[in-house]
Amino acid sequence: MSMNEMETNGRDTVRVFVTGLCDGLPDLREALGKHPEIELVGSSDNVLEGASTLTGGHLQVVLHATRSATLPANDVAAIREYTKAPVILLASGGSPSLLEDALDADIADVLLLPQLTDNVVFSIKKACHTGRKQQASGGGRQGRLVTVFSPKGGTGKTVLSTNISASLAKHWGKRALLLDLDLQFGDAAIMLGIEPEKTIYDLVTAPGELDSEKLAGYTTRHACGLDVLPAPLRPEDAELVTEAKLARLLEVARESYDVIVVDTSPFFHGPMLATLDRTDELLLLTSLDVPTIKNVRLSLQTLELLSFPQDRIKVVLNRANSKVGMQRKEVESALELGVRYEIPSDRAVPLAVNRGNPAVLADGKSEFSRSVRELAKSLVTAQTVAKERKKFLAALARA
Ligand SMILES: Nc1ncnc2c1ncn2[C@@H]1O[C@H](COP(=O)(O)OP(=O)(O)OP(=O)(O)O)[C@@H](O)[C@H]1O
Ligand SMILES: [Mg+2]
Repeated sequence: MSMNEMETNGRDTVRVFVTGLCDGLPDLREALGKHPEIELVGSSDNVLEGASTLTGGHLQVVLHATRSATLPANDVAAIREYTKAPVILLASGGSPSLLEDALDADIADVLLLPQLTDNVVFSIKKACHTGRKQQASGGGRQGRLVTVFSPKGGTGKTVLSTNISASLAKHWGKRALLLDLDLQFGDAAIMLGIEPEKTIYDLVTAPGELDSEKLAGYTTRHACGLDVLPAPLRPEDAELVTEAKLARLLEVARESYDVIVVDTSPFFHGPMLATLDRTDELLLLTSLDVPTIKNVRLSLQTLELLSFPQDRIKVVLNRANSKVGMQRKEVESALELGVRYEIPSDRAVPLAVNRGNPAVLADGKSEFSRSVRELAKSLVTAQTVAKERKKFLAALARA
């Protein structure tokens, strides 16, 4: 039996830290403090104040209490910054979608207070056990790679990739990285209103092996929690981002992030092929515009030649509500493929672009924002499904 296993067996206790506030929490905290199977390491009303214990406390489970009826994605993301320990959410009431959203965000359990202390302890022990097993099986994340592509300029690749990744970080509690692979004229950073000190060029030309720590030194954090690795500042530096460098970068990024969203240029080039090789979901953008549809059709043929799996391609119709004498079904019959997501044309978008703040953050109520949030949510759900499938296959292999 390993030391790790002994720690939670028999009389040994589970090291727990409590963050946040909700009705019924003080009583529960007191009861847990006295419970023989729990070692209550400490608590803090807000996550930031608990940062040092969260980071260095060798915690096995974090309980986070919330008064919100919806997923407190910011708090969850902040906790994940500090510790890999499983998180259990405590709430005094919840919206119907709270449990589902929480499970999608990899929350171990959701408990509505009041609860019998023994029920809470049972849930803590279960979360601790699962957390330990995950760490033993390599523990590492296997971030999902989402590539946003269109063979035409101006179809909304950068608008969508910035907004989707911002929503994943802000609304769905994901550790998300936006990678700007429009290497010559990338403008993801400007659309997000950030002024990065370092870009992908600095990262790939820096000496030494690339690992997660090094990657973290070159990304820029947006206020919504999203990390961004911008395109080189000068077009002539693009060619130093080679296919091999990018392949390694993506491997490292998948260990550090839940989701990596890649913005692209309208071409198939070496680094783009390296990205496609690792892409879990390709959002192929089109609009109600004949030349764009023609080129999207050609791209589908190229993707087939490259043996890119068709089930990973999701057609996104941007500016779907434009009155331009063409309809969704005409796009679908031209592409011989269904449209998976529709994104409306919305004045909120150019307004937000010019202010350097993604519409999904600046104007959350707009039609555009609503559809982007839904799209981001379905990526999160797809990630959960993919993980479950992997677990199931691993269990089959062991049987
Ligand atoms: N759904 C939308 N509603 C309104 N305006 C939009 C929408 N999508 C994109 N736009 C507008 O179109 C412009 C071009 O979009 P964007 O820069 O994202 O295209 P792109 O595909 O990244 O282009 P490029 O290939 O040149 O990088 C944006 O500045 C934005 O104002
Ligand atoms: Mg762009």
